[in-house]
Amino acid sequence: MSFERRIYNFSAGPSMLPTTVLEKVRDEMLNYGGSGMSVMEMSHRSKTYDGIIGDAESNLRKLMNIPDGYKVLFLQGGATLQFSMVPMNLLRKSKKADYVVTGTWADKAAKEAGKFGDIVVTASSADKNFTYIPKLSKADFRADADYVHITLNNTIFGSKYSYIPDTGEIPLVCDWSSGILSEEIDVSRFGLIYAGAQKNIAPAGLVIIVIREDLIGAAPANTPVYMDYKIHAANGSMYNTPPAFTVYVAGEVFKHLLAIGGVAAQERLNRAKAEKLYDYIDGSQLYSAPVELESRSLMNVVFVTGDGELDKRFVAAAREEGLIDLNGHRSVGGMRASIYNAMPMEGVDALIAFMKRFEEDNIRR
Ligand SMILES: Cc1ncc(COP(=O)(O)O)c(C=O)c1O
Repeated sequence: MSFERRIYNFSAGPSMLPTTVLEKVRDEMLNYGGSGMSVMEMSHRSKTYDGIIGDAESNLRKLMNIPDGYKVLFLQGGATLQFSMVPMNLLRKSKKADYVVTGTWADKAAKEAGKFGDIVVTASSADKNFTYIPKLSKADFRADADYVHITLNNTIFGSKYSYIPDTGEIPLVCDWSSGILSEEIDVSRFGLIYAGAQKNIAPAGLVIIVIREDLIGAAPANTPVYMDYKIHAANGSMYNTPPAFTVYVAGEVFKHLLAIGGVAAQERLNRAKAEKLYDYIDGSQLYSAPVELESRSLMNVVFVTGDGELDKRFVAAAREEGLIDLNGHRSVGGMRASIYNAMPMEGVDALIAFMKRFEEDNIRR
């Protein structure tokens, strides 16, 4: 089926970007800022591009309130490469790290790290099919661990931490791929934050790393050059060709977020969108949300009817109305509405209106 208008895309990623940003990128496509070319065609060593990547970094620093003493890196390889880069660089003393497994991505990160050192899954929510976030305290972690790894928002199971675990002196590392810039966070509580850009920030092809400077520089001498944070930090993310166009789009999204009032304003909208949707689901007779109340994601809203065939009909019928990619992850089933930053309230309203109609037509009496 084809659409003649922009639709509401509930995909878990890549996902919607702000329309104003897409329009600006379109307008600048053939001639960026009087350069006579697209950013796609531009040397990353040019003065113009220097301005683009420099502004992107300083605007991200403003948005996340990144303290001095942290480096920001714009790299390729997605969040998946960070599953390897983190242990390669951060297993620097005891070669031990503790992982909290709250879903598929956390599990993948832990398994990859297991190739490089002594990795322990210190807590997991697998016992209840990842429908909650464990309560963690300092005592849960090995005192000599080089770092603790968490996945702040679990894209597939639709859960998120409502608190930042206290790891004491042990650096806390987090995968924030599906939550970055969705709510305010105290960066100083983390040793390293990484996030693939293709949900809240930009097209795919970029991973953003915010890393405390003292964690840089301990990778073994035989670390492949691309895998060493020190190389990228020393070269301002330009040791090799960065994902130049994606960084430009990310920079435009950062400007857009600053213009609407920063992360605080975006968080208010995100909370309002998620609350409306969960409230409707909790009050309905047909749908239910499996994730426990205080662990519910603001970004990925998972819900089911309890009947696999009906779920499939829901997803197909929604698609006919321009509400697309509402199917749950293939490993979970049911439905998942990813309502990232760029999903407007109108999209959530349209989804709820559709859900009501579908409920009236299919209610189990
Ligand atoms: C939480 C999380 N971590 C990691 C990944 C993998 O990211 P990438 O495809 O950028 O490697 C994803 C992708 O959806 C994700 O949601």
